[in-house]
Amino acid sequence: MAGRLQGRVAVVTGASRGIGEAIALAMAGEGAQVALVSRKAPGIEAAADRINAAHPGSATPFVAHVGEVAQLPALIDAVCAQLGTPDILVNNAGTNPYFGPMMELEWAAWDKTFEVNVKGPFALMRAVAQRLHAEGRPGSLLNISSIFGTCAAPFQGIYGMSKAALISMTRTLAVELGPAAIRVNCIAPGLVETRFSSVLVQNDELVRRYTERAALGRYGAPDEVAGAALWLASDESRFVTGQVIHVDGGYTMA
Ligand SMILES: NC(=O)c1ccc[n+]([C@@H]2O[C@H](COP(=O)([O-])OP(=O)(O)OC[C@H]3O[C@@H](n4cnc5c(N)ncnc54)[C@H](OP(=O)(O)O)[C@@H]3O)[C@@H](O)[C@H]2O)c1
Repeated sequence: MAGRLQGRVAVVTGASRGIGEAIALAMAGEGAQVALVSRKAPGIEAAADRINAAHPGSATPFVAHVGEVAQLPALIDAVCAQLGTPDILVNNAGTNPYFGPMMELEWAAWDKTFEVNVKGPFALMRAVAQRLHAEGRPGSLLNISSIFGTCAAPFQGIYGMSKAALISMTRTLAVELGPAAIRVNCIAPGLVETRFSSVLVQNDELVRRYTERAALGRYGAPDEVAGAALWLASDESRFVTGQVIHVDGGYTMA
């Protein structure tokens, strides 16, 4: 039986590990050709090898820094040349360089956070949407935000602001690109065990506070975010756009 993404090309940023690798693996398992993107060649090549071992010929690694927007048109050109125009984009790569009170923030952390978490994702969405529009093809664009895009984020305030900006971008682009049948949605994960969150997951007090508030009483694993991404990328969600789906074990409803 053909996979749900058979014949589609997907770009997943931050795909060398964690949530991005899990999404890329799930999409490859549904028949997509997946362009894996991260900054470091050894990591992204190793992830491509792991995914190709499970689904031969499905994953191609690309090296790019999503915070350096000047690199991104060439990235999308390279993906188009090797795999074809992307039908799916997952803006998953993210950064959180500053943990502390907003009052003590330094501008370098502000700039880095917004360059990687907002400016790069917008540049990629625009580059992919322009191609799709020119070819008259539908598409599905996804942003990986965070519960901190909709909740207060003490000690992660700049990160939270950038993730809120992604949600705003999702909604406005959904309106502007809807007539071209290009859907734009967002996933807001809660605490998920990855390298990115390792400091949080190793902090017993933070874990206790998270698991007490989350209805399911636990934090998540990367493959538990992949299912929502797969659904939003596939035709099963073809009447869904501009939405934010919290994948957080019931943390935000409490
Ligand atoms: N884990 C959580 O609890 C959690 C919760 C809510 C939201 N999120 C969001 O989920 C996304 C993925 O996080 P994760 O937890 O899976 O992190 P992770 O396991 O640390 O993986 C991060 C990935 O992003 C890549 N990356 C980092 N900076 C990049 C850049 N400037 N350009 C290109 N690639 C870059 C990394 O590879 P390289 O080092 O090779 O670049 C890696 O592949 C992030 O947007 C994060 O904000 C995570």
